[in-house]
Amino acid sequence: MSQEKIEKNVALLIVCILLAVIWGGLLEITPLFFQTSTTTPVKGLAVYDAESLAGREVYIREGCYNCHSQMIRPFRAETERYGHYSVAGEFVFDHPFQWGSKRTGPDLHRVGGRYSNEWHQAHLFNPRDVVPESNMPSYFWLAKTKALDTVGRDIDAKMRALRIVGVPYTDEQISEARAKLQGKTEADVLVAYLQGLGKTLSNFQ
Ligand code: HEC
Repeated sequence: MSQEKIEKNVALLIVCILLAVIWGGLLEITPLFFQTSTTTPVKGLAVYDAESLAGREVYIREGCYNCHSQMIRPFRAETERYGHYSVAGEFVFDHPFQWGSKRTGPDLHRVGGRYSNEWHQAHLFNPRDVVPESNMPSYFWLAKTKALDTVGRDIDAKMRALRIVGVPYTDEQISEARAKLQGKTEADVLVAYLQGLGKTLSNFQ
């Protein structure tokens, strides 16, 4: 079949393009489901506990990913600022991923432990109180809402659902989940989530 024939026949051209894209896509994507480096958690990776999981829901609901990525690229400028570059095995328990693609603010993948809980609470309440030049929005309402009234209401069901897609929660973790959120505000659980981010890889070789 000559190239001219394909280029002059729109339907044929579309079919050929689709076949090329599907074939190329399959070749690129399929191996990722079977490679150990993308399917095996890095050593010591823990599942999100009830608090962090609820905090992650706040993170998603508030759209933090619109301004923050969680993906440190393997470039010197990035690793010197944020720490070790992100590796696939760190995200095995993330459903869905929070990689993001926009950095109005800094990458948050290794923000865990960088600041105190009090710093985070103050920063979320009004970023300008701790970073005067910040243009991050204020999330003052998070300190007023109890996690169990919103993101934590069905935390046990969420854990059961995650277990179906491979996150190894134990029955005990699921049955204790609601009790763990007792009295916690949305800000508390969000800070718990942020403080756990990206810490597993500190011993990575
Ligand atoms: C409109 C964009 C925007 C949104 C939305 C946003 N941020 Fe930010 N964030 C920023 C900017 C800009 C900074 C840098 C200035 C500062 O520290 O406040 C920042 C800084 C941060 C930092 C400090 C990071 C560091 O390494 O110093 C944390 C933690 C953070 N944001 C968490 C959040 C969380 C959690 C949410 C969602 C509840 C959120 N941000 C939503 C723009 C945003």
